Amino acid sequence: TVPVITIDGPTASGKGTVAHRVAKHLGFHYLDSGALYRLTALSASRHGVALDDEEALANLARVLPCQFVKGHVLLDGEDVTDAVRAEAIGVAASKIAVLPKVRQALFDLQVAFRYAPGLVADGRDMGTVIFPDATQKVYLTASVDARASRRYKQLKEKGFPATMEDLVKDLAERDARDTARSAAPLKPAPGAYILDTSEMTVDQAVQTVLDLYVN
Ligand code: CDP
Repeated sequence: TVPVITIDGPTASGKGTVAHRVAKHLGFHYLDSGALYRLTALSASRHGVALDDEEALANLARVLPCQFVKGHVLLDGEDVTDAVRAEAIGVAASKIAVLPKVRQALFDLQVAFRYAPGLVADGRDMGTVIFPDATQKVYLTASVDARASRRYKQLKEKGFPATMEDLVKDLAERDARDTARSAAPLKPAPGAYILDTSEMTVDQAVQTVLDLYVN
């Protein structure tokens, strides 16, 4: 079977960066599952679909016209790489991610990313729901302060407005929604290695995951 490394964890824990670098190092494909929830949220806002209209959102998700090309994300052929990273879209994504029909609609799309030579999958439920038979499962986390300052830096670099105060509040609310929801709540998968990166550099986190995988 094709190997899969799952990297799950809370918002702004550094999963994306670490997963991407591990994939690159191993020559594996990379699945940013959060991008699929973000794309669904963006698509909803463009089609005027309400964030609680489960049926309509699931219909959008099922036929999401998205492409991932060389680190760019396209929706309907348009480059939305930066647009999907906006904090408002992240918040909307976390709201629609509680809806079971939306999660179900994105299931096949995610499983299809697993093909040779291997996959690194980043998200909330990669090890629990999407790839329960993963080769190596990691739960990546960090303190709220560490995560808020990382997210702050990331948003500023992209020219998005942000304050630490708002971000800490946002993070806490999203953590609560992700862990409290009944559909695929965020929690370490059985057998997952818990990696707290609060005091780690990206390089150290990447190396730790690579070591776990080869050993
Ligand atoms: O970058 P950040 O970690 O904040 O978010 P993301 O990974 O891009 O995911 C956006 C939202 O989608 C999260 O807040 C989750 O609520 C949701 N999500 C999910 O429910 N399941 C996944 N596998 C990935 C993301």
